[in-house]
Amino acid sequence: MAEYTHKVSAAGRINIIGEHIDYCGGKVFPVALSLKNTVYVRPNGKNTINIRWTTLDGEVSLDIDRLESYNNLKYGNYQAGSALMWQRAGHRLVGCDMLQDCTVPFGSGLSSSAAIEVSTIAALAAVAGERIDPVEIALLAQQAEREYTGVNCGIMDQYASSCGRKDMCMLLDCKTLSCTYVPFALGDYALVIANTNKPHNLVESRYNERRAECETALKTLSEKLGVSCLADVTPAQFEKWGHLIEGKPYARAKHVVEECARVEEAVKAMKSGDIVALGRLLNASHASLKELYEVTGKELDALAAAAQAHPACVGSRMTGAGFGGCTISLVKRDAVDDFVKVVGEKYLKKIGYAATFYPAEIADGITVKEL
Ligand code: GLA
Repeated sequence: MAEYTHKVSAAGRINIIGEHIDYCGGKVFPVALSLKNTVYVRPNGKNTINIRWTTLDGEVSLDIDRLESYNNLKYGNYQAGSALMWQRAGHRLVGCDMLQDCTVPFGSGLSSSAAIEVSTIAALAAVAGERIDPVEIALLAQQAEREYTGVNCGIMDQYASSCGRKDMCMLLDCKTLSCTYVPFALGDYALVIANTNKPHNLVESRYNERRAECETALKTLSEKLGVSCLADVTPAQFEKWGHLIEGKPYARAKHVVEECARVEEAVKAMKSGDIVALGRLLNASHASLKELYEVTGKELDALAAAAQAHPACVGSRMTGAGFGGCTISLVKRDAVDDFVKVVGEKYLKKIGYAATFYPAEIADGITVKEL
């Protein structure tokens, strides 16, 4: 790789708890993974960004003056959107060649898209000789996801991908963007990631629909309580006034309020090493995402139920947007092999195709190396 001038990476992520609350101003608890997107980059002296992949055939060439016109590309659209946001923010955008190497499985709910956006922007910064500001990069990457690919996402994925730290959980306040780091310490337990391998479909539209339902709920409550986001509604206030919200938005808001409370509890449990309590919170989170938020589906439910039924597992839940993607489970370290075997077999029997298991390694967000 000697001909490239920089090697820039950004991480995939899982969220331990705090699901579907980042866009409601809540606190989330993600970690950055060692699964990541790496960009090898060099300036090319032209007016184009040329992209190749280690895992895909072909090459895409983006004209720097027409970056808004590539959102229908099958591959290269995330990079184009990211470059466009970097350019629009007034940064120096130089023509360059990129080789992209992604180890985050696509469509797995482990934020391959955030890893691609964040690493692409950081690579553009590096090759232009600009300062790497991880928070600004996260915000531009989120903007790319929203404006270019049409997913009205929160900030969690891009922030974790950008600002994650090795062996640390991030308690990220999505209202203020203040982040405190809490050691990822599970004692005798391991965190196991399991991919449902469900083919992705219609995630974007259903995700946007949930967001809209939360907006509706907020409108009703803000008239009564003067709150500016659902995360500011206390469980006691919801108990008293929640009934004013009609239909589905009621259930969505109930999930948000209760999930926010679970995050506080989970952080306490992690800090005090009470992994059994943490596990119970994971189970409660999954149940709420299934019953109230309705973002699980039969594959995630089968995988979480099989995990929860295993004697060495103290908690399991879906992570990320849902509708497919991955679960995370807390499993006694010495029983992980048996867990993978038993849960894998049950899932295959119920769903008809296999799940994939990965150990979770917690790594840094953006890393930049001069070559
Ligand atoms: C997706 C979004 C995030 C967040 C999660 C759900 O990953 O990109 O912003 O809303 O779903 O917690």
